[in-house]
Amino acid sequence: MNNKHPAFGFSTRAIHHGYDPKDHHGALVPPIYLSATFAFPTAEYGAACFAGEASGHFYTRISNPTLALLESRMAALENGEAAVAFSSGMGAIAATFWTLLRPGDEVIVSQTLYGCTFALLHGIGEFGIKVRHVDLTDLAALQAALGPATRMIYCETPANPTLRLVDIAAVARLAHQQPNVTVVVDNTYCTPYLQRPLELGADVVVHSATKYLSGHGDITAGIAVSRHAIAQRIRLHGLKDLTGAVMSPQDAALLMRGLKTLALRMDRHCSNAQAVAEALQAHPAVQWVTYPGLASFPQYELAARQMKQSGGMIAFELKGGIDTGRRFMNALKLFTRAVSLGDAESLAQHPASMTHSTYTPEERAQHGISEGLVRLSVGLEDVADLLADVQQALGKCARAVARPTLLAAHAGK
Ligand SMILES: Cc1ncc(COP(=O)(O)O)c(C=O)c1O
Repeated sequence: MNNKHPAFGFSTRAIHHGYDPKDHHGALVPPIYLSATFAFPTAEYGAACFAGEASGHFYTRISNPTLALLESRMAALENGEAAVAFSSGMGAIAATFWTLLRPGDEVIVSQTLYGCTFALLHGIGEFGIKVRHVDLTDLAALQAALGPATRMIYCETPANPTLRLVDIAAVARLAHQQPNVTVVVDNTYCTPYLQRPLELGADVVVHSATKYLSGHGDITAGIAVSRHAIAQRIRLHGLKDLTGAVMSPQDAALLMRGLKTLALRMDRHCSNAQAVAEALQAHPAVQWVTYPGLASFPQYELAARQMKQSGGMIAFELKGGIDTGRRFMNALKLFTRAVSLGDAESLAQHPASMTHSTYTPEERAQHGISEGLVRLSVGLEDVADLLADVQQALGKCARAVARPTLLAAHAGK
């Protein structure tokens, strides 16, 4: 996709795109239009709006000036033509599925996905849509899975929680050899500051805007960005009729406030996470650590090519598995034990018993989510304080792991 919003840099667009104070009594910050409905100058104009022959806002579940500003800003940041705002990330994903898939269609999805997206795919399976989980890092497997009924390829990259990457350009190239295949990428972990899937050939980008985009953990929100024609279908079908999952204008204002500092926050998330990942990797209590910025990351070269920086999310497992992992989580003093991600506060959670408990243990094993995996969302605090917290918690785990080993050694004497 060509660059459609070339005039200004990323942060300038995030702060200014689509808004001029002189059109709003000089108000520096865009006003919030709370109105659910909008007056028609004539009955004929109202009828033309409903027939799609006149433009203009007429009911907030379909469009609203505050939402429209946010949507144009998100399109400018993702370098898409249009965007549709939703009340949650799941709202955006569900509306995209329901709009673009029909009974008899097949959707190919990557191995690991956020737990509720995985559950939603089970749900749409009950309506006659065939879901095929394929390792999208294996292009031969994707080629073999593509068939005449394939209508969509869906992935997260990096995936939640394993951080496995999908080569978006390679997947889109293969998918588009066939007509009518839409490539949809969940860009929640990266945000358009770190990765722009539409520029790499994807057709739709979805987000949980609850996370980095809003950045302060005080709203739930979702966004879908695409070409005009697809966005219009998602708005008029998936949003208006099938889910009704519209974002509130107040939440759109909070989300636009978050976007203003997105680039600054992402830089800090990335540098803090790099330091925490390196500390974990160097510690003897750690079995393995996965972070795209470590040279040990299996897809390090792809990460460097596809992502501007390595992100704020880390997955790791301690020696001793989940029992030690729980001890680590309970020993944390600054990191908060909580799900969600992308907030100013650093968060720690255990996917197998929390965000990915929608998978059965067998499904988790099959989809690469180990039972001992601990997920960190590294926040914006001072890095020295984060490192001190991780080190003191790891220290307790190292002692706990060492103790039975010592006892066993003594018992042998
Ligand atoms: C990668 C990813 N996609 C989608 C969602 C769903 O977003 P929401 O919680 O805003 O509905 C989440 C939530 O954690 C997520 O992590």
